[in-house]
Amino acid sequence: MSGTSESAKPVAAALHSSAVEDHAPAEAASAAPAAHTTLAQADHAMRHWTDPAPGPLCVGSTQHLRMFCNMLLQTHNPYKPAVIDWPRLSPEALHRVTSLPIWDIAVQTEGRAAIRVRTFAETVSDPLLRRALEMDGAEEARHKVVLSKLVEAYGIALAPEPDYPPPRDPEWGWLVTGYSECIDSFFAFGLFAAARRSGFFPAELVETFEPVIQEEGRHILFFVNWAAWYRRNLPWWRRPLFALKVARVWAFLVWERIGMARGIDADGVAQDANFTMNGSAALGEAMTPGAMIDLCLAENARRMAGYDARLLRPGTVPRLARLARRFVK
Ligand SMILES: [Fe+2]
Ligand SMILES: [Fe+2]
Repeated sequence: MSGTSESAKPVAAALHSSAVEDHAPAEAASAAPAAHTTLAQADHAMRHWTDPAPGPLCVGSTQHLRMFCNMLLQTHNPYKPAVIDWPRLSPEALHRVTSLPIWDIAVQTEGRAAIRVRTFAETVSDPLLRRALEMDGAEEARHKVVLSKLVEAYGIALAPEPDYPPPRDPEWGWLVTGYSECIDSFFAFGLFAAARRSGFFPAELVETFEPVIQEEGRHILFFVNWAAWYRRNLPWWRRPLFALKVARVWAFLVWERIGMARGIDADGVAQDANFTMNGSAALGEAMTPGAMIDLCLAENARRMAGYDARLLRPGTVPRLARLARRFVK
């Protein structure tokens, strides 16, 4: 699949309609080509970004902070979920979509991510970093709206939503969201490509989600750079404690995924938080685990390729995947 303007049409339509909805028909007709140009530009801009300042980058420097914050802020795609034109689905496609066991957990994950990122943003005093974190949190909230609109459009019944209280430890909440996105996005990249190839979802529906998936790519790129910058700027005596906290976060995420692999959430409701890790069979694509890992690795590299090469890339999950690849066919 390509990361071109073609790949964002339905969400792009959300931009389009908001661009022309306030005009009379004649004006709207003439505004349409301009709106399409805007869409193409917005889609390209969210996937490509290079800092104009030349020269090598020192991780942990003020220049590094400026670079990863500007990457996030300047690649924001201003689509509006409320006006997304959800494609009509055939009865078979509708059944496939509505029977996936993921919608409750997907909506709730975005709700939790939004409050966790916003809560952490409130603790940050640097204005640029705070602005970038606020945008990250707003994009998570927007993902939740996109999912809610999808659920509504296709008549998917959701369990009642829980409250989303702010985390007691804002840093813990931010680390949990950041590292869990590093795991889930890596597998979602591959699954998304598999769903597109197999035709499990109609192409228009896959395209509708394309910008959301790329946004998660931007989020994990931002997060790993923040983590490296933050670690370097901690006084030496706080670094071991921070390393321990990160290790506890990973342990928590592994525990959470093992628990959810059993298919039962805290309320005893069958859900599948590991869908991103084991969903290729559900998506109707007969792929070996090895081929799936290869696809995830290739998609991960492709989605990160458009951003300044001096920024760090998410490394842990791809490294683990390459290790696992040696043992599976
Ligand atoms: Fe999200
Ligand atoms: Fe995210």
